[in-house]
Amino acid sequence: MERKLNLILLGAPGAGKGTQAELISARYGIPAISTGQIIREEIASGSELGEAVKSYTSKGELVPDSVVIDIIKARLAKDDCENGFILDGFPRTVPQAAALDEMGVCITDVISIEVADEDIMTRMSGRRVCKKCGATYHVKYKPSPAGENCGVCGEPLTIRADDDPAVVKSRLEIYHAQTEPLKEFYDQKGLLKIVYGQEKLEDTTALTAAALEG
Ligand code: AP5
Repeated sequence: MERKLNLILLGAPGAGKGTQAELISARYGIPAISTGQIIREEIASGSELGEAVKSYTSKGELVPDSVVIDIIKARLAKDDCENGFILDGFPRTVPQAAALDEMGVCITDVISIEVADEDIMTRMSGRRVCKKCGATYHVKYKPSPAGENCGVCGEPLTIRADDDPAVVKSRLEIYHAQTEPLKEFYDQKGLLKIVYGQEKLEDTTALTAAALEG
């Protein structure tokens, strides 16, 4: 039997957190929880919460801690998290990490996927996403089997608004200033493992699996 995994995936925007989270989720049978995806769904639904946060995400800024902490609290309380979970994009600030501790959440592993900023800028320009089911592709590295449409649900693929190069640049700056300090936070707890993101998706997957098993 696999051990229980309460995993945090750290990494810059576009480092491949979502891509690896999906694969680990399938392998361990535990949910991959992306605060970015939850926020995009709220915005698409036109909810009050979505209206309140869309000005932050469109500029690549972080949504206020109190809002994302409430989102995560509600999500982790669901039954499907009982046997483990993967957090993709949370925590992103030291107060968010402290909030997880205060909630009594026991994190078993933290993996930071490292990719150079220049490579991220190139990667993001090729990302395509399905607004309906959330599937993510890359025109070169992970093309959809259905061409311009989603290989899962058939919807036409789109480019995320925050993948505009100027917004990506600002998201990277915010990552280095506010999220990167979390590496030290979790290293001090003896939980941090570093995985160097590779050109090929499957190579990063193999390194991530080795980090979880090692
Ligand atoms: P979020 O959706 O979490 O965006 P992000 O962290 O910026 O991460 P991305 O989804 O852009 O990238 P990823 O690392 O998952 O990469 P992916 O696997 O897609 O957040 C969006 C916004 O929501 C934030 O800006 C903020 O406003 C708000 N928000 C969310 N959480 C928050 C929080 N906790 N606090 C405050 N605000 C919050 O891969 C990228 C591309 O590269 C894909 O096309 C993929 O196919 C390709 N690729 C992946 N791996 C490889 C590889 N090894 N080789 C080649 N290509 C690859």
